[in-house]
Amino acid sequence: MEPSIPVAAMTPAVRELFEAALAIQRRAYAPYSNYQVGAAIRAANGAIYVGCNVENAAYPQGCCAEASAISAMIGAGEHQIIEVLVVADGERLASCCGGCRQRIREFAALDTPVHTCGPDGIRLTLTLDQLLPYSFGPENLEGF
Ligand code: THU
Repeated sequence: MEPSIPVAAMTPAVRELFEAALAIQRRAYAPYSNYQVGAAIRAANGAIYVGCNVENAAYPQGCCAEASAISAMIGAGEHQIIEVLVVADGERLASCCGGCRQRIREFAALDTPVHTCGPDGIRLTLTLDQLLPYSFGPENLEGF
């Protein structure tokens, strides 16, 4: 699949996110699926937090790259996601799983961009609202 925005055409800020995701993707622990994923999150403080998937012999105990990156962000004391980038190999779109869309929803605005990438660049950018329409979030619990 051809990238819609190859590395050379990325803005410096997005390129920084992409390089961070690529670097952590190489550290993914994915001996069962062989599908290595890297995620990079830009938080409101401007810092980048990264994560990779971490699988487990007890399969359901595995963790997605996006979840790892969110944990790193929370551990650093940040709570607002402003941009997400996910990278994986293969011809198909490395679409963020449903569970991770909901995890991102907890800490991001509906117009937050989520870049889905292959090794050569961005394949598709969607907002969180496009990825998870009619979503349930923290404000749904206000007043309860
Ligand atoms: N995976 C992610 O890290 N993020 C996603 O959004 C989709 C799936 C990982 C989980 C598992 O380690 C591997 O990809 C195959 O499902």
